[in-house]
Parts: sequence; structure tokens; C-alpha cells
Amino acid sequence: MSDQDIELEARLTEQEYFEPPEEFVEQANVSDPAVYDRFDEFPEGFEEYAEMLDWNEEWDTVLDDSNPPFYEWFVGGELNASANCIDRHLDDRGDETAILWEGEEGETRHISYRELHEEVNEMAAALRASGVEEDEVVTIHMPMVPALPVTMLACARIGAPHSVVFAGFSATALSDRVNSADSDHVVTIDGYYRRGDFLNHIEKADEAMGNVDHDPEVLVWTRHDEPEVDVSDDYTLVADLLAEHEGEEVEPVSRDAEDPLFLMYTSGTTGQPKGCQHRTGGYLAYAAGTCNYVEDIKPEDTYWCSADIGWITGHTYIVYGPLALGTTTVMYEGAPDYPDKSRTWEIAEAYDVDIFHTSPTAVRQFMKWGTEHIEGHDFDFRHMTTVGEPIQPEAWLWYYQHIGGEDAVIVDTWWQTETGGHLITNLPAIQDMKPGSAGVAAPGIEPAIYDDDGEPVDAETGQAGNLVIERPWPGMLQTVYGDDERFIAEYWERFSDTDSNDSEDWVYEAGDGAVQATDGYYRILGRLDDVMNVAGHRLGTMEIESAVSEVDAVAESAVASREDAEKGEVPDVYVTLREGVEESEEVRQEIVESIEEGIGKFARPNEVIFVDDLPKTRSGKIMRRLLENISNGEDLGNTTTLRDPSVAERIRDQIHAD
Ligand code: PRX
Repeated sequence: MSDQDIELEARLTEQEYFEPPEEFVEQANVSDPAVYDRFDEFPEGFEEYAEMLDWNEEWDTVLDDSNPPFYEWFVGGELNASANCIDRHLDDRGDETAILWEGEEGETRHISYRELHEEVNEMAAALRASGVEEDEVVTIHMPMVPALPVTMLACARIGAPHSVVFAGFSATALSDRVNSADSDHVVTIDGYYRRGDFLNHIEKADEAMGNVDHDPEVLVWTRHDEPEVDVSDDYTLVADLLAEHEGEEVEPVSRDAEDPLFLMYTSGTTGQPKGCQHRTGGYLAYAAGTCNYVEDIKPEDTYWCSADIGWITGHTYIVYGPLALGTTTVMYEGAPDYPDKSRTWEIAEAYDVDIFHTSPTAVRQFMKWGTEHIEGHDFDFRHMTTVGEPIQPEAWLWYYQHIGGEDAVIVDTWWQTETGGHLITNLPAIQDMKPGSAGVAAPGIEPAIYDDDGEPVDAETGQAGNLVIERPWPGMLQTVYGDDERFIAEYWERFSDTDSNDSEDWVYEAGDGAVQATDGYYRILGRLDDVMNVAGHRLGTMEIESAVSEVDAVAESAVASREDAEKGEVPDVYVTLREGVEESEEVRQEIVESIEEGIGKFARPNEVIFVDDLPKTRSGKIMRRLLENISNGEDLGNTTTLRDPSVAERIRDQIHAD
């Protein structure tokens, strides 16, 4: 243990809770615990969030729960998300910065609400002129450049749900999503900067289009004035379209509250990712509400969430929530260690960031890089967030001391792509912080912990179990795009009475393990299903396995999660080879490449381990849990259900031979 670790441990032993500074409480958007009572008026409590938006048509029913789990929120209401994020701020804040963008090479753009209005209108006109119709899903494969939120908001303006695919996803992942959403339009960009290199991004679209089962139109933004890489003649340059529609305004389409705003594909327990479909009214209300109460955002703040817009965190907490509240949201294109490890703090200082939102993986990285990169940078956060993975108390305390200067609050927020916004989190002026604990239920949310038989586990027992949500909330997904049955099977079936039409009999299964302490705080333990969390990126073990199975030499494979001090979890791939194939560096390389091609470089395995056989139950099911125990150097545990227990022992001996 280093001196730093010993000091952190000592402080944590001494202090379990940390109070929010008085100065914070005094200025907080919400500091009266009565907020919880208001939201306990269910479902009317959630109107408080909906009232933060501008509606063209007021809703007549807050929640229609007559056909669970297909809940409907703010029924009868009409609104437009783009108008809520832009137009309604023009009178008061038109000249204030909406998006503050910094490119990796150092260029910056301060896009005012008025400029954003112009750009989004022109893009909306361009999309419409290209034939994008209301309710058509537009797939967007773009990195962290302003054109990404502009395209999203332009889609929202004309009522075309967007499906943003994280730029790091491969061509195959892109074509899968274009096919699944049946998109007739794909928006991409020629390239972008990453660690000083200009990456050719459009080549992924080029390759993907070969695997798309229809013939979408490809619209291409350019990172600079002119394309820097070859752009196919079959594609349309967005710049040309914008020139044709310069100065045009597009009336925001009045969308039904239940009309979908976007799809976000995420990994589940099968090889195919699921398109989580989010509604317009409930989602935007929940995004704005949690940005207001949990993130404590005020219009005059500069707020920086360092996630990527290609994931749900970026959708809710870079784009929709902050812009709905009329604040300044920061976007940074590149890597946090380029050109050096102080880049994050330079940005925080240069823009005088008030609220900073990041992941535990990033905190662990900053901690490893050391305080010398922070020192000398003059920034002062009032509020900090973590999201995406459990944060170890030591990392929490380091964040609190070295980034927050012991006078910023930290909120650890638990939620998922499916939930649209935070579900378990403290309201920073109301509860004390407890390192390592996500905190209490957000207003109006009813989490619980069930044992495997569906019986509630009492906090007094200190027992871990399945995290569930017992009541609907406005930010929840509507369904899995085009697959209502999968929606029920993935999230509801296990703990609900699926024959019942009474919403009290329907319970949402999060897929996470959790434990509740007697103070009411939840500690999230991680996924219980075959989903991994690699540096905050969600990956299905089946998705990785299906990429591995593309390699001819491979007979069978199983992916196990290994704990990792920096990334939280990393995938180990266990592989058996076909008869007559010898293990070799080439085969290993082929496997790695197949994963990079099938999913993306971020899914690259930690290790590829060649074994003679995989541990299987008598019915032939591969026991990944055992492989996880092996990867993590833990006891094998009960192996009596195995067809051949010696297989697991042999693998363990092979791996831990030294
Ligand atoms: O396992 C939980 C973990 O991230 C999963 C959701 O991943 P994704 O849909 O990609 O959304 C990430 C951003 C919301 C969850 O099932 N997770 C999320 N937040 C936390 C967390 N684990 C522990 N603590 C958190 N605060």
C-alpha cells in the first residue's frame, strides 16, 4: 500500500459520511426534503418535472398504466424537444453560450443559443429536403463534434427519432444498427482527432453500407471546411445541403408526448443489441428534472459532463437535460491525456467549469496519473458527479480531496440506458455523501432488492440481491424497438405477474446486484447477468463471443470478466480450437481483430486464453461464472454440477501455474 492509500484508508475509517458544504446548500436548486413527499403523490409528483418544459398542449393524464408494462406518460400532451432545448431560451438567453466545444487540436467554438437555433434549423431543413420523414429513424455515427448535437436536435425538430451509434463502434456494429432500425438515412463525418491523429471515420460507413440490407442515403459532415479523406460520390455532403438551405427556419413539429425521441442500442444478454426506445415527453421531463435537482444546474452555470454523446449519459446529461435548462454545456473532442495529462484541468480552468461529471474509470485514471497534473490549475467545482460503475471509497475520497478541494459535493448516480436518467442518487443538498454508495432513491422512484425467488430483502438483513424498480417513472424506455416481447422478456418477466393488468404486479428488473444499508443508501455491486462494464462501456459477453465465433479456427469460446484496477472489468476470452488447429499468435490476433471488427476497438480482450475444454454443466451449458472465478484468482466454489469438474481445475492450473 502506498502512503496515499494508507492516508485515504485512515480517513475513510474515521468518517463514513461527508456533509455538503453550507455554501452549496444555500444556493442549491432543491434543499427542502419535502420534495420527496411531493413525489410520493404518485404519479402526480412527476408533473413537477414536466412543468419545467414548454408544452404546446398540456397533458390530460399523467400516467396511463392500464396496459403494463407499456406505460404512457403525460398522455395527450404535445411538445417538441428541439424547441424546448433551443427556441424557448432565445428571448432571455439567445446570446449566451449553449455549447462550448473544444477540439483536440485546441480550436474552440462558443455556440450561442441563437447560433444553435440557426444551425439546427438549417440541418432540419436539409434533412427534410433529403427525404427524412416524421417517425423515420435516422442513424447517426459521429464523434464529439458540435455537428452531432446539431444533427440530433434537427432530427428532434422534424420528429424523426435518432439512433446515435458511438463513434468507436465498428462498421459491423453500425450496419447491424442501421438494419435493425431500418434507417433510410445515415449521418456521419469524414474524420476526427484522437491523440493527435486525424482518424478516417467514414471508412466505417463505407464498409457498413456493404452489409446494409437496403440502400440508405449517407449524409456526410466534414470536420474541416473540405473533406480530408475520400468521400464516395454516392454520398451527400451536409455542407452542400446547408448552403442550399441557408437561413431557413423549420417549424418544430408538435410531437405527442409518447412519440419516440430516440433509440439507443445497448448490450443485453443475447448477441444482438437492443434498441431502447425513449419517448419525447416523459424522457425530456425526467432529463430536465434530474439535471435541475440532482445536477443542480442553473442557466448561468458552465457544466461539463465528460462522457461521450454516443452513450446514454451524453444524450441525457450533455445534450437534452442541460440544454432544456438553458445552461452552457461543454463538449471536448479528444483524449484526456492529449497532449498531456493535465488537459482536463486546463479545460476546467479555461472555461471556469462549475459542475463536473465523469466516470469512476476516469477518476481512477486521474488518481494513477497523480496530483502533479492538477496542481497549478485554477478551477473550482461546486458539484461533481460519477456515473456508470461502482466507485471504490478510496477513489471517491481522492476525487473529493484532489479534484473537489473538499468543498464540492459529489453525487454518485446509478441508472441505465433503459432508465433515461438517474434513479438512485442523493439530492446533494439533502443527504450526506457516503463514499462507495450510490445513495437513496431519487424522488418518486421505488427501488427494492429481491432475492432470486422474488421475495423482497429487508435492509436490516444486509443481504445482497437483485435490484428492481417497483413503480414506473417518466424516463423509462417505452419498449425495445420493434420487439415488445423482448422488452417483456428482458426486463419484466422474471419478477412480474405477466398475466396481470394491474401495474402493481409489474416489476422492472435492472440486472444489477445491490445491497441496501439500514440508512436507506444503496450500494450497487454490478451486473448479475451476462453484461460487462468495461471502463463504463457496457458490453454483452454474448456479443463478444459471437464475434469470436466468426474465426474459423475457433471451436467454442466463453468470455469471463476479470476485475481490473483501472477499467473496473475487462474481458478474458477462453477459447477451444478446432481439431487440427494449433494455438498460435496468428490465431490470437485473428480473434482480437474479429472482436474489433464486430464491435469496436474498445471491446478488445484483456487476454485470449487457449484451453482444451470449457467447463460445462451436464446439460452442456458453459459456466462462465467459474471462468470468472479463475480469471480473478478466486476459489472455484461448487463444481458438482459440472459434467467434468477436472476441466475447471485444469484451466485454473494452466492459468495460475506460476
Ligand atoms: O451495472 C450498472 C452500471 O452501469 C449499468 C448501465 O450501463 P449503461 O446502460 O451503459 O448506462 C451507463 C450510464 C448510466 C448498470 O446496470 N452503473 C451505472 N451507474 C452506476 C453503475 N454501477 C454502480 N454505480 C453507479 N453509479
